[in-house]
Formats: sequence, structure tokens, C-alpha cells
Amino acid sequence: MRLALLGCGTVGQEVVRLLHEQSADLAARIGAPLEIAGIAVRRIGRDRGDLPVDPTLFTTDPLGLIKRDDVDVVIEVVGGIEPARTWLVEALRAGKSVVTANKALLAEDGAALHDAAAEGGGDLYYEASVAGAIPLLRPLRESLHGDRITRVTGIVNGTTNFILSAMDATGAGFAEALEEATELGYAEADPTADVEGFDAAAKAAILASLAFHTRVAAADVHREGITEVTAADVASARAMGCTIKLLCIAARGADAAGRETVGVRVHPAMIPLTHPLASVGDAFNAVFVEADAAGQLMFYGRGAGGAPTASAVLGDVVAVSRNRLAGVRAASESAYADLAVRPMGEALTRYHISLDVADRPGVLEAVAGVFARHDVSIATVRQGPAGGGPAGRGDDADLVIVTHVAPDAALAATVRELRGLDIVRSVASVLRVEGGA
Ligand code: NDP
Ligand code: HSE
Repeated sequence: MRLALLGCGTVGQEVVRLLHEQSADLAARIGAPLEIAGIAVRRIGRDRGDLPVDPTLFTTDPLGLIKRDDVDVVIEVVGGIEPARTWLVEALRAGKSVVTANKALLAEDGAALHDAAAEGGGDLYYEASVAGAIPLLRPLRESLHGDRITRVTGIVNGTTNFILSAMDATGAGFAEALEEATELGYAEADPTADVEGFDAAAKAAILASLAFHTRVAAADVHREGITEVTAADVASARAMGCTIKLLCIAARGADAAGRETVGVRVHPAMIPLTHPLASVGDAFNAVFVEADAAGQLMFYGRGAGGAPTASAVLGDVVAVSRNRLAGVRAASESAYADLAVRPMGEALTRYHISLDVADRPGVLEAVAGVFARHDVSIATVRQGPAGGGPAGRGDDADLVIVTHVAPDAALAATVRELRGLDIVRSVASVLRVEGGA
């Protein structure tokens, strides 16, 4: 099997290392040796340490490499939409098999790749695109195909989990934790993709598409990142017996006419410390899958980093190579359900709202009236002196309100109206609460 490797950065270098270290075992498992036909990069002269590979294999001509007749499998670990889409569509149409870790491309235009694979007859595998080393996509697209998945909840971005865990455990600052995650090779080339939730949204789209047999694109996912989560939010969550995680939630539902829909969202949320996802720290990922017959399943492991991601890439390389030798291809994309995407306003959530309010009679009544007008039921109210200072009557007070479950649109309208009250000096933070706190 001749492999074209596109990209030799954090993930690509570990793919090369594993191919070298495991070559005899891989050949025995596949029934043929794996050979690197070429490695496409941007800068040939870049220092790649003591990589065990012939330096003459490097090229800056990815298309030329893909088009070579002696290439069977194309491994793409470059990232981004273009030129990766052009390369992979070309490879798939030419009948090559493709293994990619590129969640951004799959979520933006997975249809183009699936259609090209169907046209060319090769395989399209992308286990590494979601949750790094964790075997997750294959269970969704094979093991659970006899069941009906109802909900997928997960922590699918290692960088943001690393940052939030550091803020929670050591009180580390946001910028400092992001710098460390980048040095460890977890972050995307542009870490905005991580901290603003784009990376998790892309993964959520891929998970929802596989779990619910429909096409969900990144643009269908409601997305919020972690840049507005403050040290005060983290402390407030602790005080409630909770922690803050960037969650991806994909769930079945129904519209007003009873037609089945799917809702997919990514946002920071408070979850109780007793929740199984609360103990997922560092750059680890975990995904909770709920299915009618299987019940609850949890997948856990390293969600980012060169070696863990290369493990998933190599697993796919073995699978597609075996298929090619046997003259078969994996089942094609299953998108028959064609479900409509539910607007975020219809999602049922709870909110934790911190307000800085005037400390005088009637304030609580006015605030409670806003919730009542939007039909949002309050679960708990906690009032303390402003800034957590000494008790006693002051000019301002901190008010923390946690609601019962309500439609997200009603909660958002409540917050909008609160912001307009003159007795509300500021809405210090608004966080959703998930998982039974
Ligand atoms: P890096 O930025 O470390 O590496 C990117 C590689 O692509 C580099 O070798 C670079 O070349 C090469 N490259 C960039 N542009 C071009 C171009 N136009 N032509 C040819 N080569 C090019 O990225 P990662 O290894 O971290 O990530 C790769 C992919 O894997 C991305 O899709 C990412 O989302 C995904 N992924 C990453 C994970 C991680 O933990 N890092 C985990 C899971 C998925 P050069 O070396 O010369 O600069
Ligand atoms: N930047 C991604 C993360 C890499 O932090 O999870 C793994 O997909």
C-alpha cells in the first residue's frame, strides 16, 4: 500500500513515527507493507527533528503527489477548508482512499467528500477528526447502527478543557493556560477555532450527522466559546457544587407539527461535580451517548495531541488498506433521515445569572417580575453583599439566580429585559446549567 501524506506537523510527524515503529506489525495486520510514497508540506526546509524518513520524500506539490498512479491512500493532516477540499475531492474521484483528521472541512462540506468517494469508489475515513484517540466515530457508524441514538453530550475540545480545568484547579489565567495548550500541540493553527468554539462546533456537526443519519453542517450548530468565562464564574460554579465545561449537545426533538428534528449546540455550561463529565480534566475528551436499547455509553480518552491523534489516523489507514486489498469499500454515508435543524431558541435549558443590583426595597420583586413575564420559573436565589464584601446594607448587592428548565429564547428575552432595568447595574454573567444541578 503506497501512502501520500499531506502535512507533517504535530499529527503528521507522529503518523510518520508510528508507521516506522510499527511497520512489521502493520504489514502483518493488513497483509501488505505500508510505504510512504511522498510527504507534502509547505516548507521543505523546516526542522522536523530526527524524523525516521527519507528526506527526498518531501514535496511542496500536494496535487502532483495525489495524482501519482502509485498512490493508493491519501492521508490529510494539514487542516482548513482550501486547498484541502480540492486535494481530497481530486483523490477520491480518482478512486484513492482518504484518511483525514480535518473536522473543519468535514463539517463545512462533508457532502462534497462523501459524493466524491461514492463517485470514485474509495473509502473516506475520519476517526481522528473528533475526540483524538477515542474510538468514537466507528462505534457510531457501525456498532450502534442497529439502535436509535437519542442524545450525544460531550467534551470534544482538548484545548478549552485544558484551559477550563487549569482555571478551576489552580486559578490559572486564561492566556497563560492557552499558551501552554498551544505548546503541548493541542490547539489549532489558529487557536481562535478552539476558544471561540468553532472546533467543537465542527465536531458536533460530524457527531450529529453520524448519530442521527442526517446531514448537519457547522453552520447549523449554535456556537459559543469560552472567552467570556471569568475566574468569578469558575468560583461561582464551585460554590454551587459545579464546574464549567465547554459542552457539545446534539439531541433529537420534534417541531410543533410533531415532525422529528435535531438540535445541535456548543456552549460553556455549569455541570454538577457529580456528573461523569465533571471529572474529565486536562486535554481529555469524553462523549456520552444515549440510545434506546443500549442505554448510556461513555467514551473517554485523549482528545488532542500528536501521538493520540496519529493512533486514530493509523487505525483508519489499516481499515482502508484492508478494504482495498479485499476489493471492497465501507458502507457509504447514511443520511437518509434528512432531519430539520431545530433553532436554538427552542432548546430547553436552565440558566445561572449573576446580577449586580441596587440594594434597596422592591428590587427582588422587580427582578422576579421579569422572569414571571417571560414564563421562566426561578429555582434558587442567593443574595450577598456586592463583590462578596462584608455583610450589611450597601449601595449594591450581588444576586445569583438559577432557573428551572425553560426554552432558551424565553431565558434570553429575560436577560435582555434585566439588562434594561435601572436597578440592575450590570449582568455580570449568564451561564447555562446542564445535567441536573
Ligand atoms: P500543524 O499546523 O502542526 O501541521 C500542518 C501541516 O500541514 C504542516 O506540516 C504544514 O507544513 C502543512 N501545510 C500547511 N499548509 C500547507 C499547504 N498549503 N501545502 C502543503 N502542506 C501544508 O497541524 P496539526 O498537525 O496540529 O493538525 C493537522 C490536522 O489534524 C488539522 O486538520 C487539525 O484540525 C487536525 N487535528 C489535530 C489535532 C491536534 O491535537 N493537533 C487533533 C485532531 C485533529 P509545514 O510543516 O511545512 O509548515
Ligand atoms: N484543537 C483540537 C482540540 C485538536 O484542542 O481538541 C483535537 O481535535
